[in-house]
Amino acid sequence: MPSEAERVLISAEQIQNRVRELAEQIEADYPEGPLYLVSVLKGAFIFVADLARALKRHSVRIEFMGISSYGSQKSTSGQVKVTRDLDVNIEGQNILIVEDIIDSGVTLSYLTRLLQQRRPKSLEIATLLDKPERRIQPVHVKYVGFQIPDEFVVGYGLDYAEDYRNLSDVRVLNTS
Ligand code: IMP
Ligand code: MG
Repeated sequence: MPSEAERVLISAEQIQNRVRELAEQIEADYPEGPLYLVSVLKGAFIFVADLARALKRHSVRIEFMGISSYGSQKSTSGQVKVTRDLDVNIEGQNILIVEDIIDSGVTLSYLTRLLQQRRPKSLEIATLLDKPERRIQPVHVKYVGFQIPDEFVVGYGLDYAEDYRNLSDVRVLNTS
C-alpha cells in the first residue's frame, strides 16, 4: 500500500452551495420541456444525484453512459471507448452532459461529437470540476462548479483506483 496524504480542497458545504447555484442557472436556461441529464459513470454519480434533486422542474430524466479513457492510473491513456451506451433516443431533446471533472478534455470532446451526431435539440456540459491547465482538446463547457489547479483530486464521486468516491468533500491526493 502506498501512503496517501489527503488535504481538503473543497468542503462539502461549498459543494452543496455551488450545486444549488448551478441548478438555479440551469432552471433559468431551460424554462420548459424535459431536460435529460446524461451522466458519465462512475465519477459523476454523486454530482448528478445532487444536481437532479436541486432542480425544481418535474421533467428531469437521468441517463447514464460509460466512457473510459483512464485505467486505474492518474494520467489519460488518450484512448476513449464507450463501455455503456444510452438506451434512449435523444433526437430533438435538450441534453445536458454531467461530468465530474474535465482534465485533458479528451473524454468530453469525444462524447460531444458522438452525441451531436444523434441530433439533440441542444447539447451542453455541466462539470463539477475543471482543470483548465491540463486541456489538450478544446471543449465548450457551459456550467463549471469549480476551477481547480493541476492536482489529482478524489472524493464526491472521484476515485483513485476505485477508492475515495464516497467522501462528501473533494481532497487533493498525494501518493508516494
Ligand atoms: P479527460 O478525458 O482527460 O478530460 O479525463 C476525464 C476523466 O479523467 C474524468 O472523468 C475522471 O474520471 C478522470 N480524472 C481526471 N482528473 C482526475 C482527478 O484529478 N481525479 C480523479 N479522476 C480524474
Ligand atoms: Mg469520469
